Amino acid sequence: MSREHVDHRHIVTFADERVNLKRDDAKELREQANRLRDKLDSYLEEHPDFELRKILLSGSLAKGTALKSSSDVDLACYVSSAAAPRKMADLIEWLAQKLEKAFPNFKPEQIKRKTYSVAVTFVGTGNEIDVVPILYSGDPEWRGELISQDTGEPLMTSVPLHLEFIRKRKRVNEVHFAQLVRLIKFWAKLRKDEDEGFRFKSFMTELILAHLADAGCRLDDYPEALASFFNFLVTDGFRTTIAFSDYYDQSSCKPDGKPIRIWDPVNCENNVAKLYTNDNKVAIVDAAMETGDAIDSALRAISKGETLRYWRKVFGTTFDA
Ligand SMILES: Nc1ncnc2c1ncn2[C@@H]1O[C@H](COP(=O)(O)OP(=O)(O)OP(=O)(O)O)[C@@H](O)[C@H]1O
Ligand SMILES: [Mg+2]
Repeated sequence: MSREHVDHRHIVTFADERVNLKRDDAKELREQANRLRDKLDSYLEEHPDFELRKILLSGSLAKGTALKSSSDVDLACYVSSAAAPRKMADLIEWLAQKLEKAFPNFKPEQIKRKTYSVAVTFVGTGNEIDVVPILYSGDPEWRGELISQDTGEPLMTSVPLHLEFIRKRKRVNEVHFAQLVRLIKFWAKLRKDEDEGFRFKSFMTELILAHLADAGCRLDDYPEALASFFNFLVTDGFRTTIAFSDYYDQSSCKPDGKPIRIWDPVNCENNVAKLYTNDNKVAIVDAAMETGDAIDSALRAISKGETLRYWRKVFGTTFDA
């Protein structure tokens, strides 16, 4: 195999320069989110009956899988399910008013009602944080009904257990698990930019990669690992139902007949890919096939120009080595 022009370390450099959220930016965003959480915690100490229970950094910033260009900042906010309204518009209005009360220093325009979340903007930096409600009724492992940011429906799940699930995979493949997630999310973002119908959710990327890593796929060589990921999508074609035994017995998972079945690691009645149609599935497999072929060709190419041309099919025109 020809590795002369583009090798593992070139992909590492590209990821540092173009793909990853910079360490300092991630730190600033994390600190801002944590200050918000700490303020709420002290408010809760003084107002124990207030119906917000806990705020927690969730999403890619918490998992260390954020991209430079496109990741948002997600905070999960646990709200008492007995007190919170069930109708979505009312729930969002209720949450916004609670946040206004808990953070009286925020100006009204800093707290914005969105369809399924409340956005909080910081004045100095202009950073925006999405506060996503979770209806909570006291589960010790912080299971609750997470409001889907795709449809607004409540999904029974546990964000802290998701974070623990990802942390475990990161421990087995330090550096590489998170880096490959970011590279594949970057790949998916390019496909989404070209075709607005293309769908490949970040959480799905993490779960598919976790499935491969759990089965022993090596992640420490990026050209090889990327080839394995895309070749798996092509050869499997989503025939496999992906499930995990961290928090449930896999034999209790019942097929739901959807084109793609990837069970939430904490609830195997929640198919993370249930909104994906057969057309969505075919588009992913087709894109994976093109990408897998491009990687194979890049690894066989002789000249530097040719090698770069193939890698640019994978990572776009900004790819360089
Ligand atoms: N369908 C779902 N079922 C259960 N939990 C979900 C689902 N979708 C999202 N989540 C929760 O929300 C979190 C964030 O979602 P997602 O992974 O899609 O975005 P992200 O990791 O923040 O990526 P980015 O913002 O960079 O695209 C997940 O880690 C998971 O805890
Ligand atoms: Mg996010």
